[in-house]
Amino acid sequence: MSTAFTETATTTHKPPIRRAWWKEAVVYQIYPRSFMDANGDGIGDLRGIISKLDYLKLLGVDVLWLNPIYDSPNDDMGYDIRNYYKIMDEFGTMDDFDELLREVHARGMKLVMDLVANHTSDEHAWFVESRSSRDNPYRDWYIWRDGKPDGREPNNWLSYFSGSAWAYDERTGQYYLHLFSRRQPDLNWENPKVREAIFEMMRFWLDKGIDGFRMDVINAIAKAEGLPDAPAKPGQRYAWGGQYFLNQPKVHEYLREMHDKVLRHYDIMTVGETGGVTTRDALLFAGEDRQELNMVFQFEHMDIDATDGDKWRPRPWKLTELKAIMTRWQNELYGKAWNSLYWTNHDQPRALSRFGNDGPYRVESAKMLATVLHMMQGTPYIFQGEEIGMTNCPFDSIDDYRDVEIHNLWRDRVLQGGQDPAEVLRVIQLKGRDNARTPMQWDDSPNAGFTTGTPWIKVNPNYREINVKQALADPNSIFHYYRRLLELRKQHPIVVYGKYHLLLPEHEEIWAYTRTLEDERWLVVANFFGGTPVFELPPDVVCSGGELMLANYAVDEALDEAPRRFQLRPYECRVYRLR
Ligand code: GLC
Ligand code: CA
Repeated sequence: MSTAFTETATTTHKPPIRRAWWKEAVVYQIYPRSFMDANGDGIGDLRGIISKLDYLKLLGVDVLWLNPIYDSPNDDMGYDIRNYYKIMDEFGTMDDFDELLREVHARGMKLVMDLVANHTSDEHAWFVESRSSRDNPYRDWYIWRDGKPDGREPNNWLSYFSGSAWAYDERTGQYYLHLFSRRQPDLNWENPKVREAIFEMMRFWLDKGIDGFRMDVINAIAKAEGLPDAPAKPGQRYAWGGQYFLNQPKVHEYLREMHDKVLRHYDIMTVGETGGVTTRDALLFAGEDRQELNMVFQFEHMDIDATDGDKWRPRPWKLTELKAIMTRWQNELYGKAWNSLYWTNHDQPRALSRFGNDGPYRVESAKMLATVLHMMQGTPYIFQGEEIGMTNCPFDSIDDYRDVEIHNLWRDRVLQGGQDPAEVLRVIQLKGRDNARTPMQWDDSPNAGFTTGTPWIKVNPNYREINVKQALADPNSIFHYYRRLLELRKQHPIVVYGKYHLLLPEHEEIWAYTRTLEDERWLVVANFFGGTPVFELPPDVVCSGGELMLANYAVDEALDEAPRRFQLRPYECRVYRLR
C-alpha cells in the first residue's frame, strides 16, 4: 500500500484530474489480417475494415487501433517492417488507407497506428545497407558487435522468441542484436540519425491526419551501456536480460526528444507497450507533466498465470492477486498518470477462456469481465471479437499455427530440446498468440463470413454459434451489453474520472469496488466464478439504497436489500449508483 491518495471509502473529494479526449475514449483494436477480407485472398485487408466501420460505430467505440499495416515480409505478422511509407500489398494501397482514414473520421471516430521502432525487418533498406559492409554509412543504424573471444555471441541475452538474441552474419563476421526474431534486427537509438529518421516517418503519418500511435515495445529502445551479460543459472546458456534493455534511463531522453520534436505538435493519443513496467516506471513514462506518453500498457496482470514471468509455464491464478495488482495500478497512478485497461490483445489468449468461462457461462462471464474492466479508471481497449465473446481456438497440430513465437518454441523445445510434443502443444493451446488471431466471426456462413477464399489461419469452429450476426439479432447479446456499457461512460463522468476504491480485498470470489466523483458514488460488484456467494457492503460505505445502472442478469430488487446485501448468481455483475 503506497498510495498518496489513501482514503476511506466514504470520503468525497474533487479529482485532481485533467480532462482529455483520450481519457474519455474507448479503443477498439483491429488485427487487420484477421478482421475482414474484402477480395477473397484469405487475408484481411483495409477495404474489409472500411466495410465494417458502421458496425464499429454501432458498438460505440471512439478510436480504432490497427496492428501494423506497413509493407512487411510477415515473419512476425507485420511487426517486421520493410518500408514504413508503404502499405502491405496484401492489405491494400495508400489510396485505400487514405479512404479508410477519411471514412473513420467521417463517422466521428479516430485512428491510431502501430509504431514499430525498436526494430525493422531484415529486409528494410537500412538493414540491407547496414549488413553489406562494416564501413557502410548505415552500419551504425543497428547494433553490431564482435563475438566473444571463443566465438560465442557478444552476450548471453535470450530473445523474446526463444534462443539467443544475436545472429551471426557471415559476410562481415559480426553479430547483430535482435530482441525478437532474427528477422527483426534492433535499431540503434543512440544514433541521432536513426532517431531523426523515425521522427520524420512519424510526422509523415501524423500529417496525413492519424490520431496517434501505439508504440511497440517502446521501453526497450535504449540498451544498457556495454550490453552486459544477464545473470544466468548454472548450465543455462541464455538468460533473460530485461534489466539491461527495459526501462533504461535513456529511454526517457529519447521519448522526451520525440515528444518535443513530434508529439507535442499534434492533438493525438499515445500509448506505449511496456512489458516489465512497475507503477513507478509508468509514472515516468506517462506522468501527467512528464512530456513523454499519455499512457502505457502494463503487463503485471498478464503474468498472473505464468511462472516467474515465463508464460510457457502456466499456473493457476487467484482473484485476490488479480485484484491486488489492478488496485495497485488504480491507486498509484490516480491523479498522476493515466491507466490503460485491457484483458487481452493480439499477443494474449482470449480473455474469456483465460479469466472467464468459455463454456455454459460464456455470455454471463464475458459481460462480467467487460464490466469490471470498463468501470475501472483508465482508457479501455476492446480486442476484436471480445465484444461477441470469442474464445481460444486450440489447434491439434503444430502445422495449423502461424506464429513465429510458437514455431520457435517448438523448434527449441521439441525439435532440438527433445521435450514431449504433447506437453508443449498443450501450453501452446493455452497460451499461444494464435488464439487471438483466428478470423473475426461475422456470421454462420462458411469461414464465418471472413473470406470467400481460404483463410490464412483456421477459423474457430464455434463460429456457427458465436458470430456478429447472431449478436446483433439477440438483444441480450454480449455485443448489446457492450453498447450499454460504452453509453454509460459517455453519459456519466464518474465512469471516467471517479476515484476507485477496492472493497473486500480478501474475498476469493467477488471483486467489488466503488467509484467516487464529488458527491456521487457508484458500486461495482462482480462474481468471478461459478458459485453463488453473498455480497455484503462493508458498513463504512454510506448507502441508503441504490439505482441499478447495469447488470448481466435480470435483477428483482424487491428480493434483495439491494445494494447492501444480495446473493450473486454465477458470474453475475451489477453496477449501482448509491444513494
Ligand atoms: C510487441 C507486439 C508483438 C510483436 C513484438 C515484436 O510485443 O505486440 O506482436 O511480436 O512486439 O515487435
Ligand atoms: Ca484480402
